[in-house]
Amino acid sequence: MTRPRILSGMRPTGDLHIGHLVGALENWAALQDGYECFYMVADWHAVMSEFKDTKSLRRHSISNVADWIACGVDPKRSTLFIQSAIPEHVELWAAFSMVTPVSWLERCPTYKEQIHELSHKDLSSVAFLGYPALQTADIALYKGELVPVGKDQEPHLEVAREIIRRFNGVFGNIFPEPRVKLTETPKLNGTDNRKMSKSYGNAIELSAKPEQIRSMMKTMVTDPKRVRRSDPGTPEECNVYSWYQAFAKDLLTTAADECRGAKIGCIDCKMRLADRMIPRLAPIGERRAELMADDAKAVRAVLAEGEEKARAVAQRTMREVKEAVFPV
Ligand code: TRP
Ligand code: SF4
Repeated sequence: MTRPRILSGMRPTGDLHIGHLVGALENWAALQDGYECFYMVADWHAVMSEFKDTKSLRRHSISNVADWIACGVDPKRSTLFIQSAIPEHVELWAAFSMVTPVSWLERCPTYKEQIHELSHKDLSSVAFLGYPALQTADIALYKGELVPVGKDQEPHLEVAREIIRRFNGVFGNIFPEPRVKLTETPKLNGTDNRKMSKSYGNAIELSAKPEQIRSMMKTMVTDPKRVRRSDPGTPEECNVYSWYQAFAKDLLTTAADECRGAKIGCIDCKMRLADRMIPRLAPIGERRAELMADDAKAVRAVLAEGEEKARAVAQRTMREVKEAVFPV
């Protein structure tokens, strides 16, 4: 029986942190049971916003894949590859660009937001405007049906469906219309309760050592209304408590009860959580180190195999596209 096909991707913009583990990778690993999964490093997508400094992209592409595997993505069951290794992504992007009105891209809310928020970056390129069209090509090349992503990616999937619908309308039913498979886990905020991001210094990296984990958690923002140890707290308003959801589910009721009754201090509450996070992250760090040993020999072998599988599918799809666009 053929399983429905999934495609997802991640830009290699840095080393991965616990937000990636909880928000994406645990989900990617779980989906392997029911779906045929393609997981891709979206390195061209990273170039779109980082073209002035691409020197770390290759290194992060490799180390991210090591982290994926260390977190349970299984290269025996899933196909892992780097986007730029398969030139058909860019070729299909070009084909999709032919049927994509500029206005669809300009009205995409993520586009408007990023142009506004990342004003220090040069995002005025043709390519950046076409970001969702490349994402569409990523999915369509493998005839992906479901795309596991967070809510922030929904606008891109909306554009993807429109482009695919239009392309199918003109050239025949080549592609399935992909659907979002929303990642259910709520996003983990950073230690300062802002969006978790390496650049804010508020993220616990997957490779963090136990001492680093403890010291970062000590400074973590809690319920702002709980000033003194004797003040009762409101766990629902505490960032630490939301991390319990991800790393110590069995202690949620205990922690909530102790917090509301001022029966525990925030430092103790945090260190109890750290005691759960440390053994969860330790094997990931070990596995990653093995994979990265010897100039990442093991990761490179996985990618060579993944690329071969991805390439076969991508070439077949592109042949079909060309036959439809240039009928004999
Ligand atoms: N845009 C996605 C992000 O920033 C990454 C991505 C690129 C992607 N291509 C994709 C996600 C295809 C899903 C499917 O997170
Ligand atoms: Fe947050 Fe725990 Fe402090 Fe309550 S006791 S405010 S849940 S850190």
